[in-house]
Amino acid sequence: MTDVLDTSAESIARAAECLRRGGLVAFPTETVYGLGAHALDADAVRRLFAAKARPATDPLIVHVSAWEDVEELVGEDLLTGPYSRARRLAACFWPGPLTLVLPRGVRIPREVTAGLDTAGVRIPAHPVARALLEAARIPIAAPSANLFSRPSPTLAAHVLQDLDGRIDMVIDGGATNVGVESTVLDLTADVPTILRPGAVTREMLEQYLPTVAVGGDLKAAPYHPYHSEGTATPSPGMLAKHYSPRAPLTLYEGPHALERMVGVVSGSAERGQLVGVLVPREHAARFEDLPVRVEDLGPADDLRTMATRLYAALRELDASGVDAIFALGIDATEGLGTALRDRLRRAAAGRIIST
Ligand code: TXA
Ligand code: MG
Repeated sequence: MTDVLDTSAESIARAAECLRRGGLVAFPTETVYGLGAHALDADAVRRLFAAKARPATDPLIVHVSAWEDVEELVGEDLLTGPYSRARRLAACFWPGPLTLVLPRGVRIPREVTAGLDTAGVRIPAHPVARALLEAARIPIAAPSANLFSRPSPTLAAHVLQDLDGRIDMVIDGGATNVGVESTVLDLTADVPTILRPGAVTREMLEQYLPTVAVGGDLKAAPYHPYHSEGTATPSPGMLAKHYSPRAPLTLYEGPHALERMVGVVSGSAERGQLVGVLVPREHAARFEDLPVRVEDLGPADDLRTMATRLYAALRELDASGVDAIFALGIDATEGLGTALRDRLRRAAAGRIIST
């Protein structure tokens, strides 16, 4: 059984002790719930990978409470040279939803970084995460606290859906505030490169760095609003496996997306399929008269609300037992919209219809 703890000082102390002894504790961060393990304890980290059923090739983010901890863990001088920009970014964005990929110091076990010579580090802003780090006095390796390939958890209940009985404890700190995972910025590349978009946006980073590149899955899955109709974007690598609900999700993008969706959804419903629909609030009424389950993400111009609702909505649709999910794409090329578009595309695992 997994113990569910409140956020009292006694509970935090218990959770911290559990982590120090090599246990697995899920806790809220400002982005999503993380599943923590002692980052310097290779056995604990191996148990963490097993609990999540996560492939050992996927590196973890190390969470710390202060800049001094980063200096101790990273394998390079951060005061001078190319990595001094890490300090500037830290001063601007930490604590907060930004992960910096830096050279791995020898203290970090290879299990944490999946054998890479780099390590992702971040100082989270959530008061419970901070209290836990301060009480444990160790760096905490923490991926999102979901089973591998499932949507990230934004509530303690989501953590239990996936991991009850597989981890020691979860601290219930209520809903997380951002709702999508941290921005991952690789500072070891020639040009600082966003590997995963998040609430710290490219535009925000560009105020402190001369150039910021966008890489990884994002680059591999560019947005083509006027792509020929009906073609599915190929989904390379990790893209296909992440953030997916159980029911297959098909994403509609482009100027005619809503009309196409309404047509396909009513056709599927007529054939007796149990259909789930994921749309911004203003479009929910279009599906009102159909026998389908609609989850609205909030107003289309309120990206922050949409981000906080996305994963919960995917889990709600799954829990309602739908056979298929149809979602309306986000037509954004900047700000938090980039992160939302990225997560929806990953959830679609390649089933993207450009209209
Ligand atoms: O908001 C978050 O980042 C949450 C909370 C718990 O902090 N954590 C999270 O962890 O989302 P996870 O494991 O689900 O995602 C970590 C991402 C992965 O895409 C991984 O590939 C990337 O960070 N990452 C970690 N270390 C890396 C490294 N050394 N080089 C490149 N990418 C790395
Ligand atoms: Mg994850």
